[in-house]
Amino acid sequence: MMTDTATVPDQTEPLTPAPCQGIPRYNLVAIILHWLIAVAIILQLASGLWMVDAIKGSAYQALAYDTYQWHKSLGLTVLVLSLFRLLWRLAHKPPALPDGMKPLERRAAHITHWLFYGFMIGAPLTGWAMVSASPWDLPTIWFGVFEVPHIPWLYNIDEASKEGVEAGFKLSHEIMGKLGLALLLLHVGAALKHQFVAKDHLMWRMLPRFQRTKTNGE
Ligand code: HEM
Repeated sequence: MMTDTATVPDQTEPLTPAPCQGIPRYNLVAIILHWLIAVAIILQLASGLWMVDAIKGSAYQALAYDTYQWHKSLGLTVLVLSLFRLLWRLAHKPPALPDGMKPLERRAAHITHWLFYGFMIGAPLTGWAMVSASPWDLPTIWFGVFEVPHIPWLYNIDEASKEGVEAGFKLSHEIMGKLGLALLLLHVGAALKHQFVAKDHLMWRMLPRFQRTKTNGE
């Protein structure tokens, strides 16, 4: 049977970068960590806000109990990934911000990024601290696989103080959640503004280099 060679792509044809390929990007490790943590944080905020009310009612109480375990497991995973990401960020200089950004915008971007690190580490730490100090002494089984120990110096405080300490961390965890939600909205809003208003393709810095177009002499 004859092959129609006109439809077979020319494998030797050179590939040239799409316009976005001239933009400096984060390295692949930073990009993977960014998106993994982003998805996990959205799940954490949604599950946290849902379960605290659902546990009080009867309709979804059993599911809410499971969600608590799941929330604690994913939250501790975020803690480990975020600590690694922080070390990675300190060891690897990020790409420069677009030239068109005003000094105030640059400052705001830096402050938001560092607040995010504070939240990514602070939110899981306050959650773990609350659970560790709790007089209920509920275990955390990481995705059903192994038991995560409580933080010893909180677990070992005297019984009389536990309730107050737990309440303090509960409040700070709740505040962290609200701060995280605000940061997330600010961050997504800024990314969309850069993409569609300033059109400086800032978002491509955090996307893997997968866009390639063929030259066909046009
Ligand atoms: C990125 C990580 C995390 C985020 C963004 C997050 C977020 C939240 C949010 C938004 C709530 C609802 C707070 C409220 O409005 O009352 C919540 C509740 C809760 N979180 Fe997390 N969380 C994280 C990690 C953790 C970890 C690591 C643990 C424990 C190991 C944990 C344990 C809990 C518990 C027990 C509650 C329920 C508190 C209550 O019953 O009032 N969280 N979380």
